[in-house]
Amino acid sequence: MDEWKMRPIGYIRSSYTSTDQVPKGLGTTHTMEGVLEVLPEYEKGLQDIEGYSHLMILWIFHQAKGCELYGTVPTDGRQHGVFSTRSPRRPNPIGLTTVELIRRDGPSLYLRGIDMLDGTPVLDIKPYTSSIPMEQLRRGWLGEAENRNK
Ligand SMILES: C[S@@+](CC[C@H](N)C(=O)[O-])C[C@H]1O[C@@H](n2cnc3c(N)ncnc32)[C@H](O)[C@@H]1O
Repeated sequence: MDEWKMRPIGYIRSSYTSTDQVPKGLGTTHTMEGVLEVLPEYEKGLQDIEGYSHLMILWIFHQAKGCELYGTVPTDGRQHGVFSTRSPRRPNPIGLTTVELIRRDGPSLYLRGIDMLDGTPVLDIKPYTSSIPMEQLRRGWLGEAENRNK
């Protein structure tokens, strides 16, 4: 089986220290601020990042326990396949969070909208450049749950 070895490019500093502190459920919006401390050897790679308002952060669910391909999610209490959810318990425990970049101070990126625990390892940062209009998005079972909840 193919394998790729990855190393963190930095770590999240967050006031969330346990998963139950992170807001969950339908309609949750993430406004928590935190800092991504990029390791010194990667700081040069941050050049020009200040021009972006939003970034996509790829990270590791380093405290996730195992994987569940099919299970009940707390959002609607129904069963879904893992690839139609944002569950931490996935075959490759990779998280993806779109955040607002408040400012950069050298290797430190000040972010708004984090949902990661303190000490979460970060694999990569990419600028958010999506241009898909909201009306073209289908939101699957999550959209149905949101509509039922209106
Ligand atoms: C539902 S996941 C969504 C994460 C990301 N936005 C995504 O879509 O991939 C967010 C939850 O992951 C959990 N979490 C955050 N950081 C974690 C970590 N480092 N290890 C394990 N679980 C974590 C928290 O309970 C948080 O509520």
